[in-house]
Amino acid sequence: MFRAVGSVLKRNKESIYGIARGSTSSSHRAFTCNVTSSTTVNSASSSPLAGNSFNGLRSLLKNELLIFECFVFGSVNKGMNLEDFKFIYWMEYAHRMWGRGLGIMFALPFSYFLRKGYITLRLGVQLSGLFALGAGQGFIGWWMVKSGLEEPPSEYSQPRVSPYRLAAHLTSAFAIYCGLFWTALSVVMPEPPAESLAWVRGAAKVKKLALPVSFIVGITAISGAFVAGNDAGRAFNTFPKMGDTWIPDGIFEMKPLIRNFFENTATVQLDHRLLATTTLLAIGTMWWFTRKLDIHPAVKALIGSTVGMTAVQVTLGVSTLLSYVPVSLGSAHQAGALTLLTLMLLLNHTLRRPSPSLLKSLPPVVKSNFS
Ligand code: HEM
Repeated sequence: MFRAVGSVLKRNKESIYGIARGSTSSSHRAFTCNVTSSTTVNSASSSPLAGNSFNGLRSLLKNELLIFECFVFGSVNKGMNLEDFKFIYWMEYAHRMWGRGLGIMFALPFSYFLRKGYITLRLGVQLSGLFALGAGQGFIGWWMVKSGLEEPPSEYSQPRVSPYRLAAHLTSAFAIYCGLFWTALSVVMPEPPAESLAWVRGAAKVKKLALPVSFIVGITAISGAFVAGNDAGRAFNTFPKMGDTWIPDGIFEMKPLIRNFFENTATVQLDHRLLATTTLLAIGTMWWFTRKLDIHPAVKALIGSTVGMTAVQVTLGVSTLLSYVPVSLGSAHQAGALTLLTLMLLLNHTLRRPSPSLLKSLPPVVKSNFS
């Protein structure tokens, strides 16, 4: 999706901006699109909302066609045909509308439940914060797409959105999702499952490992955003080696050094591989050290699920790489990262310390069903 947005970038961006604005503005404007140095298209565009609706629609479609022409002529998108353009256009349009729709889907029930008095002050503050983050996500999306309209350094370089902004957009999306999921869990499960003091003590031991492991999963996911943002999955399509070597040449060729970790294709991919391997080892270690602890069966099941999901995620990552990043596998790998994060959230939520009143009522050990 982000790559699709990134490829909708134009050399003659001023002309496109002009036409794009003309297609939605209520004022009558004349725009000029310099399609090639010898061809100039003039459009005295009136708003699609002005006049009768048929003329409005015709004017809108004419403008979209002009945008397409501006994209294709004399640009790196030369190979793009009208069908490709329509696909990207609708993907982008649907994504924006979906984002705005989500805002409404959140705000309407929120205001209703607030008026009815169902929402506590604490929950209200949390939900308002999440709503603000959602609005911020729209802003980050706009900021990211804008970076893709910058002039590419050469006529052969692929226009692309900034990897930093793409990573910010993905990280923020994951953060909002985590916030919503945690808040929802806390509403439906105010207390963790705790049936004995022994299980509470066991949970405290698991928590010491679960927190740092969750942090590693989060960092691995963010590093994945840099792989996607730099299109680094389309280089070194071999595993476990990167080409013929374990560590490719030139991983520190950019100056200053720090840039390599965010912009150098080889370094970004190597980082992601190393972090993914660390995630796999960390989750395996967590399972190993907790397997004999006296803990709640739900905690045991969650730890087992994270091990399984990490194995699936690594397999998806390697398959994505070896098959040169098809959209289907890339999306499955992204969804896999979110699933793994979800499991880590569930685990951490289940490991919370019970309230003092619940603690007081717990027996030292779980009463057996057979006693
Ligand atoms: C626990 C392990 C892993 C996690 C949590 C993870 C997470 C992610 C995330 C969040 C992305 C960004 C997806 C996007 O925005 O499209 C990504 C991209 C990617 N990851 Fe992983 N990853 C893991 C393991 C691996 C492994 C082992 C490989 C292969 C060696 C790999 C290869 C890739 C590639 C090639 C991309 C770029 C996909 C694209 O361009 O759309 N990942 N990863």
